Amino acid sequence: MEQAVRADRPHALTTTLAAFEVTATSPSSHHARSWLRAVVGGEVVGVAELELPLTENTDVAWAEVHVLPGHRRQGVGRRLWEALVERARAAGRTRIGGEVSVDVDVAGAAHEFARATGAVERHREDHLLARLPVPGSPVHPAYEVVLWRGRCPEEHRASYLAMRNQMNADAPTGDLDLEPEVLDDARLSASEERLTRAYDVRVAAARRRSDGVFGGYSLLFVPHGTDYGWQDDTLVMPEHRGHRLGAALKAANYADLPAEVRHVHTWTAPDNTAMHRTNTALGFRVVEHMYEMDVAIA
Ligand SMILES: CC(C)(COP(=O)(O)OP(=O)(O)OC[C@H]1O[C@@H](n2cnc3c(N)ncnc32)[C@H](O)[C@@H]1OP(=O)(O)O)[C@@H](O)C(=O)NCCC(=O)NCCS
Repeated sequence: MEQAVRADRPHALTTTLAAFEVTATSPSSHHARSWLRAVVGGEVVGVAELELPLTENTDVAWAEVHVLPGHRRQGVGRRLWEALVERARAAGRTRIGGEVSVDVDVAGAAHEFARATGAVERHREDHLLARLPVPGSPVHPAYEVVLWRGRCPEEHRASYLAMRNQMNADAPTGDLDLEPEVLDDARLSASEERLTRAYDVRVAAARRRSDGVFGGYSLLFVPHGTDYGWQDDTLVMPEHRGHRLGAALKAANYADLPAEVRHVHTWTAPDNTAMHRTNTALGFRVVEHMYEMDVAIA
């Protein structure tokens, strides 16, 4: 996977071996994942992943296909795709979705391949990368930043869960028809437990000084043993917007990282003007275009 991806996506975020091992050996109860490999003359020349959501979006399967550069345009990708479709249908799925990323400078076949399967674009995001340190971004004086790593402390869990669910409901998915995932305390705990085995999980949250109400959070993952982090959610609750809390939370998380972490990845829809501006002000630049696509298989 790493070799196939790296060939035309120098800035791709790929899974680490440790993260893959957690996914493969201790399955989540909300997503079933399986892997296929294409073997030619005893050599693995391609791999594919199929993810079946088990709680929400049970009509969908998520797919990824990777073929080594020296073995492309020989039908290997198509064979892997057909095998994924067969398995997705057998699991009762009626559509397959995938994220297709294309470097802004290096030509790749991902988009052409996805279109050849009949998939259509439903949502677009930019993949941005920043080199640390980033310029500081002061916190509005009415708020204080609360940082934690790993499991969310008990006293903040109810507020954190409410914000996570607001994020899941609000996150833009364009024309992709998806139900939001709903987290409860047990599901959050299980996810924290699995994630901390492969990642340093860091949260920065903004708490209003006057009443202790949380106004937003930003979630960052640093894969163990790497020199980069990647941004997951950043949310500012509607009544707390307009104070540059998004930038302050991201910057607070980055400032707290160990010195060996040199880069941060993030993804933002190009029409999300507020977050795009926040990111560019922090020094992020667009390195890839990411298309979320899907195709009916029923
Ligand atoms: C995308 C990828 C999986 C294609 O693998 P592949 O084995 O070369 O694909 P196939 O030979 O089965 O091609 C199937 C169809 O895709 C399209 N396609 C594939 N590569 C193409 C290219 N370079 N230019 C134009 N169309 C292309 C064609 O329609 C092709 O059918 P054809 O050869 O009959 O014209 C491979 O390039 C890859 O691993 N890229 C990096 C990882 C990635 O981006 N994966 C896709 C995201 S999930």
